[in-house]
Amino acid sequence: MVTLTIDGKTVEVEEGSTILQAAEKLGIEIPTLCHHKALLPYGACRLCLVELVGPRKSWIQASCVYPAEEGLVVKTSTERVLRTRKIMIELLLARCPEVEVVQELARQMGVEETRFPKKNEDCILCGLCARVCQERMGVGAVNFANRGTEKKVGTPYDKHSSICMACGACEVVCPAHCVDLSEVTTRTPRPIPSEFDEGLSSRASIYIPFAQAVPHKPVIDKTTCIRLQTGACGACEAFCDAGAIRYDQEDTIEEIEVGTIIVATGFDLFDAGQIGRYGYGRLKNVVNALEFERLSHASGPTGGELLTSAGKRPEAVAILTAYAWPGNVRELRNAIERGVIASTGPVILPKDLPPRLRVAPSPFRTLSVPLGLTLGEAERKIILSTLEFCQGNRTKAARVLRIGRRTLQSKLKSYGL
Ligand code: SF4
Ligand code: SF4
Ligand code: FES
Repeated sequence: MVTLTIDGKTVEVEEGSTILQAAEKLGIEIPTLCHHKALLPYGACRLCLVELVGPRKSWIQASCVYPAEEGLVVKTSTERVLRTRKIMIELLLARCPEVEVVQELARQMGVEETRFPKKNEDCILCGLCARVCQERMGVGAVNFANRGTEKKVGTPYDKHSSICMACGACEVVCPAHCVDLSEVTTRTPRPIPSEFDEGLSSRASIYIPFAQAVPHKPVIDKTTCIRLQTGACGACEAFCDAGAIRYDQEDTIEEIEVGTIIVATGFDLFDAGQIGRYGYGRLKNVVNALEFERLSHASGPTGGELLTSAGKRPEAVAILTAYAWPGNVRELRNAIERGVIASTGPVILPKDLPPRLRVAPSPFRTLSVPLGLTLGEAERKIILSTLEFCQGNRTKAARVLRIGRRTLQSKLKSYGL
């Protein structure tokens, strides 16, 4: 262990730690841009500068690369430090004036404008993408090219990389959000579908199965974890301060004594793909009941907001029931007013559907309802169709529709019948 002083506070850290890590231990904030906990120190952005105070002189160093040494005296916010950091952020602001993370850091440092000529680049040359690809993924598909003002990151000869495995780590780690994977590789990243969200969202290889999981602990999916598959990555281990990541852990069966057993059998979902006309599995935005549950749930992929696969609000939602539909017309009215055409069962969201949306009103017949119909039009369509089905018997139709006969009469009268 080594002991050093930062801003007048003494701290003890493991040998090999950096000043930045020692400052973090004390809760002292130092701005960083090219630093990443899961990667080796690099020292590119120079925003983490601090002043080291010696007996005869003091000097400026990048805290993310400088080792914590016994007896070191460090100051993190002297006038000299703040002035030098401001010059660094001004230089970055000149290179990438539109990059949000740079703008935000400049704002935090009290820099509103840069005195240097602007370039309008996207990449801040932090090297995180190249480092994560090399150090963590063991691939090295992207790297720095050229020198000086021509320096840039990319693939060799700016051609699609044949070794990139489309893991997306470079994209995730880029603070400027300027990595475009389609420029790096022709491979398409394959998101891991979340089982709990019925594949409507993706999950990481290390994940907590669902919000209410007991125990509420992350598990590692062996089949997709790069570490367990290739020996590379291991980023989660580098991040976990508690040292809780164990790649060698295996599933075990444990016998425990309990007072009560609650058997929750669950249920098998009807495969809506069996009925071709629903378009389930073929058309986007046709979802089954469980998927609808996830879409409308606060812990679901859209936070409970009903959105199409394109992330837009549907103009209307049609819900097909397996039994006894259309049900109550009043319920239907309310449902349509809320943007929902009916209730429970497989769901059809109208986006991307063919011009005529097929709705199954009951187990024994099919009703066609055009898309974009108004509330009145939908109601009329359903009432007339039901009456036709009941062979003109108004009492029966009222019963099927679960409305009073008088209500049905007045509706029919308003239709001129
Ligand atoms: S997506 Fe390709 S370039 Fe990016 S880190 Fe993964 S292997 Fe490297
Ligand atoms: S592409 Fe992104 S991660 Fe890579 S060097 Fe540029 S800013 Fe950094
Ligand atoms: S964070 Fe230290 S040089 Fe970039």
